[in-house]
Amino acid sequence: DLYRPSRANSRGLEFGHRATLAALTRGIAAATLPAAPAEPLVDARPLGGLERKVVSPIDGHTVAGTAFDAAPDAADSAIEAAACGFASWSRTPAAERARLLDRIAGLYEDNRDRLMALLAVEAGKTLADGLAEVREAVDFCRYYAAEARRLFTVDRLMPGPTGEDNRWRHRGRGVFVCISPWNFPLAIFTGQVVAALAAGNTVVAKPAEQTPLIAALAVRLMHEAGIPANAVNLVPGDGTVGAHLVAHRQVAGVAFTGSTKTAWRINRALAAKDGPIVPLIAETGGINAMIVDATALPEQVSDDVITSAFRSAGQRCSALRLLFLQDEVADRMIEMIAGAARELKLGDPRDPATDIGPVIDAEARDRLAAHVARMQREQEVLFAGSLPGGVLAGGTWMAPHIVALRSAEELTEEIFGPILHVVRWKSGELDRVIRSIAATGYGLTLGVHSRIDAVHRQVADALAIGNIYVNRNMIGAVVGTQPFGGSGLSGTGPKAGGPDYLTRFAQEQVISVNT
Ligand code: SER
Repeated sequence: DLYRPSRANSRGLEFGHRATLAALTRGIAAATLPAAPAEPLVDARPLGGLERKVVSPIDGHTVAGTAFDAAPDAADSAIEAAACGFASWSRTPAAERARLLDRIAGLYEDNRDRLMALLAVEAGKTLADGLAEVREAVDFCRYYAAEARRLFTVDRLMPGPTGEDNRWRHRGRGVFVCISPWNFPLAIFTGQVVAALAAGNTVVAKPAEQTPLIAALAVRLMHEAGIPANAVNLVPGDGTVGAHLVAHRQVAGVAFTGSTKTAWRINRALAAKDGPIVPLIAETGGINAMIVDATALPEQVSDDVITSAFRSAGQRCSALRLLFLQDEVADRMIEMIAGAARELKLGDPRDPATDIGPVIDAEARDRLAAHVARMQREQEVLFAGSLPGGVLAGGTWMAPHIVALRSAEELTEEIFGPILHVVRWKSGELDRVIRSIAATGYGLTLGVHSRIDAVHRQVADALAIGNIYVNRNMIGAVVGTQPFGGSGLSGTGPKAGGPDYLTRFAQEQVISVNT
């Protein structure tokens, strides 16, 4: 029998409906900013820390709120609080944990406009991206709640000899440290935390230093939903405090989403410490490719490339970086894609007409600008978009670019922004294209546009890539529909929003009773 979940994903909004859009933009404008401060929250008590202003990437001066970065002793207190909370949370029946996760989902929906206001001002997210992110966070809560009911509410009786009762079950591991990125400051933050909670762990969450405010709001909503104060603790700060948390002896597991380099560092730190041997669940980046052959539908390819490479200013780990175009269609495709890219409007993400918001901060903008300058010197820049002016000129902007590479091997690192690299291939060279993609070492997402079924089957069989999208765009994995995560340099494999995810946060236990 197939397992058919009864749960449904959250509902979208019809942006084409004028009254709906007007109500949403009014709600976002009315959300009070600056937001409540992001402080270390230990057992729900604010501990204070090193004060700094969180400035919006939209204009470089609007203050989204104040952050208090945690000192090492606040991080230690957070771990101690979570360790203290574990005894009772891990014994809370899984059905009750699931009920509380459903309540978080409801509270997120009730607070949608506040959350979206922060997603726009703190993280630069457009309305479409902000709404998609709130929905994804809601979906994670409900999906993991349903999964906790499926996986953790009943013990499994194992076959055995007469006179013996053997039961297999899952239990929480202990304190999970969850380290999340700025590009999905609500969805990924929430996904990690609620997965750990659903499996019976308590949590110390370290959000990205760029986006602590939305994380603080999320934690407050979790507590309001009824998650015990010491089951979720917040530690804002940079990588230093993250490293301090990871090295702590009482940590029973780490969930991390971010760069491959940081995942290596965490892995080494976990391996170097004495004490329990703990799992790392890592989701990192990719040099994600799309293969387009001569049978593909040009309009569809153009649409899907624009969405995959430029939406969210290319700041998705799933985004398209390397487009392989078959020679016969390459000129026409490039012309269409550049034409569509020219129409993209950069601007204030709260404006419904905006397609692309700012990149996250000046460091990201400078890194991208340096890459474009290098591409101008060493390769051929085919298209460069234009930047917003006026008051927004103070923000951190990067216009879409299309670069022709001499070969795929010229791109040696993930470029986390709206820069698309194009490589041509000739009929009969599909194997070479596949080898180039494998040689990146990453394995997160891949797009294929071809009307020949054998092409995508060949590609999928040859490449250990986590998420493959055929004849569609390659971003925006839907919880419970496209479980998301990669392999190789892209991560340790467990798929967020998938049926195997929660067990990775849990410990197996077998109880054998001589009856
Ligand atoms: N889950 C996101 C996506 O699929 C990750 O970047 O786009």
